[in-house]
Amino acid sequence: MISEIIKNRRAVFPAQYNNQPISKEEVLAILESANWAPTHKRTEPWRFKVFHGLSQIGLGKFLAETYKNTSEKFSENTYNKFIENPVKAKCVIVICFQRDPKESLPEWEEIASTAMAVQNMWLAASEMKIGGYWSSPGIIKYMDKFVQMEEGERCLGFFYLGKYDGELPEGTRKTSIEEKTVWM
Ligand SMILES: Cc1cc2nc3c(=O)[nH]c(=O)nc-3n(C[C@H](O)[C@H](O)[C@H](O)COP(=O)(O)O)c2cc1C
Repeated sequence: MISEIIKNRRAVFPAQYNNQPISKEEVLAILESANWAPTHKRTEPWRFKVFHGLSQIGLGKFLAETYKNTSEKFSENTYNKFIENPVKAKCVIVICFQRDPKESLPEWEEIASTAMAVQNMWLAASEMKIGGYWSSPGIIKYMDKFVQMEEGERCLGFFYLGKYDGELPEGTRKTSIEEKTVWM
């Protein structure tokens, strides 16, 4: 049932990943789900850069050095996490979106569509027993120094992927849907 898959999806973090590899076919299946997100005017704004294999090491080094060079309050622990997490993951998908200059949709609509694409990936991964989470550190604004971005393209974060052992904890929500809904 889709409602069960939705409720059972969890943010699964690098500390929880085991060392099992994720195949290219599995990554492709997850990406394919992204491509079926809805979009206003069919702009399909999501763009992805996939770090799968040795390239993950370079990504970690870039993130750590960028953090070191730009942070106002440096922490050795955070620096080490930026190096380690992209390698603990068995794939890191850089989440980007590109505005369509012809359609001139508001930016929020393109970001909303891209977030829906990420949710599709997250649900697909969850059903495949692959853990994932969306990481959005402040340094994503420097990603154009590391990967080529097209005109109007911007990074929204990283989707870390890794397999895990055992069961995931049950999710929690602070308030019920009734408390967030007004029936008119
Ligand atoms: C847009 C977005 C950005 C996020 N960025 C971070 C992040 O930078 N660090 C983090 O620990 N979790 C991040 N998360 C994951 C949330 O912490 C997680 O989804 C939330 O705690 C709810 O848990 P659940 O996904 O297991 O239901 C992000 C989630 C979203 C949707």
